[in-house]
Amino acid sequence: MCGIVGCILKDKESAPVLLECVKKLEYRGYDSVGIATSDKEIRIKKDQGKIDDFRKKIDLNELPGKMGIAHVRWATHGLPTKENAHPHTDCNNRIAVVHNGIIENFKDLRSELEDSGHKFSSDTDTEIIPHLIESYMAEGKSLEEAIRFATRKIKGSYALAIMSLDEPGIIIGVRKESPLIVGIGEDEYFLASDVPAVLNHTDKAIYLDNREMVILDGNKVTIKDLDGEIISKKIHTIDWTEDMAKKQGYNHFMLKEIHEQPDAVKNTLREESEIRELVKKLPNFNKVCFVACGTSYHASLVGKYLFESILEMPTDVILASEFEYSSGGLDENTLVILISQSGETADTLKALKIANKKSETLAIVNVIGSSATREAKHVIYTRAGPEIGVAATKTYVSQLTSIYLLALLLGGNEDHLKTLKKMPDYMEQSLKKEDQIKEIAKRYKNTWDFFFIGRGFSFPTAMEGALKLKEITYIHGEGYAAGELKHGPLALIDDDVPVVAVIPPGHSHDKTLSNMEEVKSRKARIIALGADNDEDIISEAHEFIGFAPDIDEMLSPIPYVIPLQLLAYYISVERNIDPDKPKNLAKCVTVE
Ligand code: M6R
Repeated sequence: MCGIVGCILKDKESAPVLLECVKKLEYRGYDSVGIATSDKEIRIKKDQGKIDDFRKKIDLNELPGKMGIAHVRWATHGLPTKENAHPHTDCNNRIAVVHNGIIENFKDLRSELEDSGHKFSSDTDTEIIPHLIESYMAEGKSLEEAIRFATRKIKGSYALAIMSLDEPGIIIGVRKESPLIVGIGEDEYFLASDVPAVLNHTDKAIYLDNREMVILDGNKVTIKDLDGEIISKKIHTIDWTEDMAKKQGYNHFMLKEIHEQPDAVKNTLREESEIRELVKKLPNFNKVCFVACGTSYHASLVGKYLFESILEMPTDVILASEFEYSSGGLDENTLVILISQSGETADTLKALKIANKKSETLAIVNVIGSSATREAKHVIYTRAGPEIGVAATKTYVSQLTSIYLLALLLGGNEDHLKTLKKMPDYMEQSLKKEDQIKEIAKRYKNTWDFFFIGRGFSFPTAMEGALKLKEITYIHGEGYAAGELKHGPLALIDDDVPVVAVIPPGHSHDKTLSNMEEVKSRKARIIALGADNDEDIISEAHEFIGFAPDIDEMLSPIPYVIPLQLLAYYISVERNIDPDKPKNLAKCVTVE
């Protein structure tokens, strides 16, 4: 949902650094890119397209200056074109702005500004910001005051980095409902939407809260609220390293992140003692409500099956974007568990705000210091490390691990806890199926429709498999409860529609096997996942991916999702799609 960067350096040119930093945010948007640097004038280069193509077209020597701002865009208002790419400027090219978020009242503000003579050159909501600041500065206000006044006029969400030729040597950042961090290097200062952008330069960061402003002046960082009062903020040491955010020899981040999953789960498991402490602190509750989007929603669905079977507790799962329409029944005895990799998903943050008024809230989050971690009453960190691929993989299995730890510790279920601790070994077994899956991908790369079926704990796995396929291969995939096919979708099944059946050993095994037979007798080709000694599946499936015979369905969602991630990944590669940057999508969705 757009990534922004700003920097003031001591004795280096800023343009190469800005480009390198913004490249780390490419997972947030990749339809356009732009840089503005400032010395005696503000110079801008921007274009539609990805950073690597942009880099080939521009000469960085034409962007002199030790300070600047940069942007990667995921279009919301206005097509992805050069004109709509950020930075945007005022009428006289003296103020430059990069923005992540949405200005909801931009149309009214734009017509007011146009009536008073301002000329616009893009279709974006963002462009009203430099013009508004220009109009306040024309009244004699300083840049800082003008920004403060502008924030009173605009409605919506924003993380902004702004510089003006009239106040050289200063970059101002301000945020409301979109993330912004300040990186503090040695006599060098950075602004960024997310930590990976600055990891090459510093491990010290300040996380800005809503309605806070930061002034970088090359010697220091000053943080104020929007009334101009100075605020003192903690400087955090970041424990993610630069190396963690590199491809390390893999062709794509997604493949690297799929392979990192056993380690990600090991790291999550290290949170056991924190979660034990949290369990002691949580007030009594008699109902659970999970809230999340996308892959995190699928982790929540596993949570529902788990909490209901282990704790026998009524458990709801609500899509965060539906929460404001359907969150009835929350009370002080409800524990609302919000799951989010980024901790910045706008829908989830909105739900968190609503839930905080009525219930105890717990956020399960990967990104340290993100908005959800600051707004929820309790937090569990998944500790999966930075995830750059747009498709969530390692953060999903880490979310699942956190949910298992929580449920098993709440329920005092030590046996399952022991098996959970062996999970990284089971995951290694799934990863060994990579070569087989690569071959399957070649055979199915031209398919147009897939169904994924599973029952109980395997139903969310089927949904997650379908989501991975859709988002990175552009093939239609539908995750369905296996028993539900006969109530409608069976009409779609024929020899052109393969069915991926998730059938771990356990309670649901025999019934899913029957559902697999049903689709097979309608000529569907079957790709089945199961225990490697499961003769019933082996004799029926066209493709059988077998592993981990001792994992039963309750713990199956972690090792069973891996072959589905690999299947989507290799089909994507076969179709010449970049799985790290699927079209129309962004890693962090900061708009509702
Ligand atoms: O950061 P979040 O977990 O809140 O993100 C929620 C979804 O946008 C996210 O899981 C999305 O569905 C994944 N990129 C899918 O792979």
